[in-house]
Amino acid sequence: MIRFWRETIICVLTTIVLPILLNSYNPVPIAEAQPTTPTTTDRSLLSVAYPNRALSAYPAKLPPLPYAYGALTKAIDAETMKLHHSAHHASYVNNLNDALKQYPNLQKRSVESLLLDLNSVPENIRTKVRNNAGGHLNHTIFWQLMSPQGGGQPTGAIAQEINKTFGSFDAFKKEFNAAGAARFGSGWVWLVRNPQNQLQIVTTANQDNPIMDGFYPIMGNDVWEHAYYLKYRNRRADYLNNWWNVVNWPQINRRSQSLQ
Ligand SMILES: [Fe+2]
Repeated sequence: MIRFWRETIICVLTTIVLPILLNSYNPVPIAEAQPTTPTTTDRSLLSVAYPNRALSAYPAKLPPLPYAYGALTKAIDAETMKLHHSAHHASYVNNLNDALKQYPNLQKRSVESLLLDLNSVPENIRTKVRNNAGGHLNHTIFWQLMSPQGGGQPTGAIAQEINKTFGSFDAFKKEFNAAGAARFGSGWVWLVRNPQNQLQIVTTANQDNPIMDGFYPIMGNDVWEHAYYLKYRNRRADYLNNWWNVVNWPQINRRSQSLQ
């Protein structure tokens, strides 16, 4: 009798309980180690506005020009510089602050992070953020790319990379100017680093920044009419040609190395 019950219990355990226990065991999969090499987009979060830091979104502040309004007359007159900085750039700053004033969670983010993820910005302010965060970022970069001591041939690593990619500095200038002249309406022409780590010339419409397309902006020229109209009138090509007289190659080298 005892033997009967012992065999019955063993039978129940092996045919019913054990399969249930085995089926309920659901091991947690162990994730495979993934390479952690940052992408261009990840790393660009750190250093787009400046070679070593991002741009605060709130309160956005108009950065002071690193030179006087009349210091770049080799290419741009003082009145244009004054209006461009103290009126146009200032309005992007004010409009960005206005757009974000009711959104504390967005205020904590950088301008770069807002532009990289516009879908996370409420629809009712998305276009305003796109235009004005972009305008603030683009102009913050632009002022640093010029210098009263600028111009001449490129120097440092960027000179070699330009020669390697475009054949020569003259060929690069020609291609950059042609792209800037061909940008329809208002926008920017840029030298960027693409996701393949190569130099490339691109243009953006309005105040869009190349990070929105996965590129890191190394240098760029503003081809909105407000950047040149007082002196050059409708002659955008002349402005593009003269702009090289104030290009700040040391700063462009710093930017070009920030992703290396
Ligand atoms: Fe501008």
